[in-house]
Amino acid sequence: MPAAEAAIGVFDSGVGGLSVLREVRAALPAEHLLYVADSGAAPYGDRPAEFILERAQAIVAFFLEQNIKAIVVACNTATAVAIQSLRARYPVPLVAIEPAVKPAAAQSRSGVIGILATSQTLASENFSRLRERYGQGVRVLTQACPGLVEQVEKGELQGEATQAMVAGYLAPLLAQGADTIVLGCTHYPFLLPIIRAAAGQGVAVIDPAQAVARELRRRLESGNLHCAGATPGTERFWTSGATDKVATVMAKLWGKEITVHLLP
Ligand code: DGL
Repeated sequence: MPAAEAAIGVFDSGVGGLSVLREVRAALPAEHLLYVADSGAAPYGDRPAEFILERAQAIVAFFLEQNIKAIVVACNTATAVAIQSLRARYPVPLVAIEPAVKPAAAQSRSGVIGILATSQTLASENFSRLRERYGQGVRVLTQACPGLVEQVEKGELQGEATQAMVAGYLAPLLAQGADTIVLGCTHYPFLLPIIRAAAGQGVAVIDPAQAVARELRRRLESGNLHCAGATPGTERFWTSGATDKVATVMAKLWGKEITVHLLP
């Protein structure tokens, strides 16, 4: 049984999960955090489900070798495809992000919500169940966004190509009256300024990362695993991609220089 001082593992197909890691850091300042960006295998969004499951299992196995006390799946696509098998296979607290259909449906005034996510997330049974359960009484529009993950992986957060993609993906949702947009992929919060600009005023944009961090905190507290000391926690980073390139993009997104190790 790991001690409260043990670290928390957080992973994504790439750098996008840093949008979750920053909320985890804010909610849990004393925790030690390990982050894996599976950039060598990104994007997951158009890959077969078996491939994503294998990658998720390999990363969880790596975290367990590091004696972590909890894991955050900071990738909607990995949650959509793999969360049940991960939970069945590994007896460790697992907190997983998924598209925020419920809060979006609750707060929409037009009764039309738009979900931006990867093709695999939208095609998954988990997403169908989420939509069935929480999307009653509103129109749920979905939009797969191929190419957007790649733009964030390259650190291209503002350029014309990224702006054009974002505008193109939002247009059909806005034309059909969506007043609430869900960021159903953890890479997309890094595009928030251009998403907001393209969506315009009066359209709410929802990122569930804070809710994931709160849920993690609850799980740690209820399991007496919460590290609450006054000493700030540390972060360590790994990637399956080219370490130098990934480190440059991650430093940009994380807001300070970091060392990124090659995932064994
Ligand atoms: N950040 C991942 C997600 O939340 C992106 C998946 C991908 O690599 O396509 O879905």
